[in-house]
Amino acid sequence: MKSSLVNFLCVILLASGANCCEISSFSNVSVTVVGVLGIDKVSGCLEPIGLLEKVSFVQIINQSVPVLYRGAVKDLPNLADLILENSGVSSLEPGAFRNLTRLRLLRLQDNKIQEIKEGVFNGLPVSEISLKNNNISHIDAQAFDNLTKLQIISLDKNRLTTWDSNWFMHCSEIKELSFKHNFIRNIPERAFRNIRGVHHVNGKTIFTNIHLDNNEIENIDPNALLGLRNLGWLILSRNNLKQIPETLLDPIEQIDWLKLNFNMLTCVPDKVLNKVPNLNNYLEGNPLDDNCKELLSRL
Ligand SMILES: *[C@@H]1O[C@H](CO)[C@@H](O)[C@H](O)[C@H]1NC(C)=O
Ligand SMILES: *[C@@H]1O[C@H](CO)[C@@H](O)[C@H](O)[C@H]1NC(C)=O
Ligand SMILES: *[C@@H]1O[C@H](CO)[C@@H](O)[C@H](O)[C@H]1NC(C)=O
Ligand SMILES: *[C@@H]1O[C@H](CO)[C@@H](O)[C@H](O)[C@H]1NC(C)=O
Ligand SMILES: *[C@@H]1O[C@H](CO)[C@@H](O)[C@H](O)[C@H]1NC(C)=O
Repeated sequence: MKSSLVNFLCVILLASGANCCEISSFSNVSVTVVGVLGIDKVSGCLEPIGLLEKVSFVQIINQSVPVLYRGAVKDLPNLADLILENSGVSSLEPGAFRNLTRLRLLRLQDNKIQEIKEGVFNGLPVSEISLKNNNISHIDAQAFDNLTKLQIISLDKNRLTTWDSNWFMHCSEIKELSFKHNFIRNIPERAFRNIRGVHHVNGKTIFTNIHLDNNEIENIDPNALLGLRNLGWLILSRNNLKQIPETLLDPIEQIDWLKLNFNMLTCVPDKVLNKVPNLNNYLEGNPLDDNCKELLSRL
């Protein structure tokens, strides 16, 4: 009774352009929606008031939405795609996305997000998250736990300097993991222990791809890949690697591509070359020594 009265008031207030949720995240923001007619501005929270209950797609681009507070987007039973781009978002508060049972795509690229806190994304049913081109320098160890349907995640073009092996607990469906264009320096032991290298989807076998190109990686732990048995691509181009540990690929039974272009390598261990012979094509831009060139020319 109380809640329906609140909702009733909200509808009236919304009609007059005012806010009505707990903490307002949106202020007269232009929005494109699918699933309902007649909504082109939102204020307050995105919640199932009036027609919004039916909304399946929400796109907000080039607006001003500095903070997504707790409950910013919640209880929308049909929402599948939420796109909030280039709108100066600098903070995502825990609970910002709540009870969105059909959410599939969450695109928050080209904002100014600085950190990913635990409690923002956990448990969402999303299959794709893009946080590309933000200002992220910290991700809580458990920030991405329990994204059991997540398949694609991009954190390209952020300011991360460290990799945390604890990330992605219970995210076993990830197939594309992309952290290009950051400032990561070190790949630690068992870095991908929560990632599965191979998936079986509708009778097809799909291998996981990991993109770490354009970072500042100087050091890869010899046991970095422990826990993975298969992999699609492992892209480490344009980093500062001076050597590749001899045992790096020992845990791996099969890997499609390893790319090491534009590093500081004088050679790569035989053991590694033997496991991925096509690596020979992805060593351009390294100061390979003469022995190494000779070795490679005989492959
Ligand atoms: C919302 O923005 C529109 C222009 O986009 C403006 O006409 C309207 O007055 C604004 N409403 C409020 C409540 O600020
Ligand atoms: C957003 O702004 C960019 C340029 O700043 C422009 O190219 C783009 O068309 C705009 N998109 C929308 C949906 O307004
Ligand atoms: C989730 O949202 C649905 C649809 O708005 C609502 O009926 C349900 O009570 C909400 N569940 C919780 C736990 O808030
Ligand atoms: C990026 O984040 C840092 C804090 O980590 C802050 O000092 C800086 O102003 C932010 N830059 C932008 C463009 O928001
Ligand atoms: C992940 O799920 C487990 C089991 O459901 C739960 O105990 C844990 O608190 C969840 N982690 C996070 C960070 O939400």
